[in-house]
Amino acid sequence: MRTLITGNWKMNGEQAWTIKPAGFDKMVPIQARKHVDILLCPPFPYIRELFVASASRNIAIGGQDCHASEQGAHTGEVSAEMLADCGADYVIIGHSERRAGGETDADVQAKAKAAFRAGLTPIICVGETLEQREAGEALSEVESQISGSIPDQADSFVVAYEPVWAIGTGKVASIADIKDMHAHIRELVGAETRILYGGSVKPGNAADILATDNVNGALIGGASLNMADFAAITRAAS
Ligand code: PGA
Repeated sequence: MRTLITGNWKMNGEQAWTIKPAGFDKMVPIQARKHVDILLCPPFPYIRELFVASASRNIAIGGQDCHASEQGAHTGEVSAEMLADCGADYVIIGHSERRAGGETDADVQAKAKAAFRAGLTPIICVGETLEQREAGEALSEVESQISGSIPDQADSFVVAYEPVWAIGTGKVASIADIKDMHAHIRELVGAETRILYGGSVKPGNAADILATDNVNGALIGGASLNMADFAAITRAAS
């Protein structure tokens, strides 16, 4: 299974306009692209621009969310079909920053169905809070998010395990905890599904995390905004 390195730009990325095709070669070394799959998820307005600028560079583009409906009176929302129209192949769904805003497992499941309908691969995010981890509930919480968020009839999808307390904090789960959690998720989702780790992945810890059993890639926030850091992570992955 090929490793998938995903950059989640969140609500950043004015640099999208400045990345010329050569910029992609800096951000994602050509050599690394031969061995790993690379996915960039910019804010909606930059998707088309990045798709066009990265054309024929083996870099996939994804959205950071989508609405469950195909179209209609949903001011401010974007459908999975629209993302696909703009060149996206993937969509991140159920990120903890969205779950914190009230998104439920049922919402995430509806969005995953929308992604399948549009021919996109959803990256379904799950993860426990610090309180849940300290209470010994990390595995059961993630299991319940997975069973509630993944449709029964699922096409190909990716799971991203992101402990909420590790996102943007500089704190990383221990390799032993990542190994346990990914083994647990593996039992739930089967051998064919890629399982990413996310939460403060940086050039200094990427190689160890990516070498852990059942870690098939990474979802990277902060470090994906820095070309040199992202390049170093893709090199560590390859
Ligand atoms: P981080 O974010 O790498 O900045 O911790 C990861 C994410 O939220 O996907």
